Amino acid sequence: MDWVIRTLGTAVGKKLLMAVTGLSFCGFLGAHLAGNLTLYGGADAFNSYAAHLHSLGPLLTVAELGLLALFVVHVVTGLVLFLQNLKARPQRYAVDRSAGGRTLGSRTMPYTGALIFLFIIYHLMNFHFVDKSHATIFAIVAGTFANPVQMALYITAMVVVAVHVSHGFWSLFQTLGANHPKYMPAIKILGLLFALVVGVGFGFIPIYVGML
Ligand code: HEM
Repeated sequence: MDWVIRTLGTAVGKKLLMAVTGLSFCGFLGAHLAGNLTLYGGADAFNSYAAHLHSLGPLLTVAELGLLALFVVHVVTGLVLFLQNLKARPQRYAVDRSAGGRTLGSRTMPYTGALIFLFIIYHLMNFHFVDKSHATIFAIVAGTFANPVQMALYITAMVVVAVHVSHGFWSLFQTLGANHPKYMPAIKILGLLFALVVGVGFGFIPIYVGML
C-alpha cells in the first residue's frame, strides 16, 4: 500500500492516474455517443433507450458514482500537475515552443479541461438534475436544442471535447507504455479519428434535434 501512495506522489504516478481515468472517459464517451445516436431515431427510440438505462436501477447508480469518482480524480490530478508545471516553469520561454511539434490539443489541455468541467456541470443541470415527471427525456433534449443559443453552446462544447480528446487519447497510450515508434503513428491517427467521431457524432445531435 505504501508504494502505491509513494508512486501516486510522483509526477509519473499522477500521469498514470490521468491515463487510466482518461481511458475510462473515452470508454464512457463511446458508450454515451452510441446511446445518444438513438436520438436520430426519434422520440420513441430515445425514450425507450433512456427507460432501459434507468431500469438498471442500483447498477446505474453504482456506475454513476464510479464515473463521479473517476471525474474527481482526473480533475484534481490534472489541476495538481498543471500547478506543478507552472511552479517548475515560472517564466515563459522566450522562444515559442509550439514550433517543436506541439499541437493545438497538447498546448490547450488544461484550458479545454477546465471548459469541459464547466460544460459537464451545465450539461447535468440541463438533462440529469431536471424534473422528468412532466416531460419525456426526448422532449427535454428537443426543448433545449430548439433554443439557438443552447444549440451553439453545445456545438462549441463538442469542438472543445474533440480537441481535448485529440491529444488525450494518444497521450494516455504513451503514458501506459505504448510509445513504440512502430505503433505511435497508428495510435495518433486512431486518436484523431476518435476525436473526429466524438466531435461530429455529438456535434450534429443539437443541429438535427434542434431542427425537428
Ligand atoms: C449533444 C451531445 C450530448 C447530448 C444530447 C447528451 C445527452 C445527455 C442526456 C439526455 C443525459 C441524461 C440521461 C438521463 O439521465 O436519462 C446525459 C447525461 C450525461 N452526459 Fe451527456 N449528452 C451529450 C454530450 C455529452 C458529453 C460530450 C459529455 C462528456 C464530456 C457528457 C457527459 C454526460 C454525463 C457525465 C452524464 C451523466 C450520466 C449519468 O449520470 O447517467 N455528455 N447526457
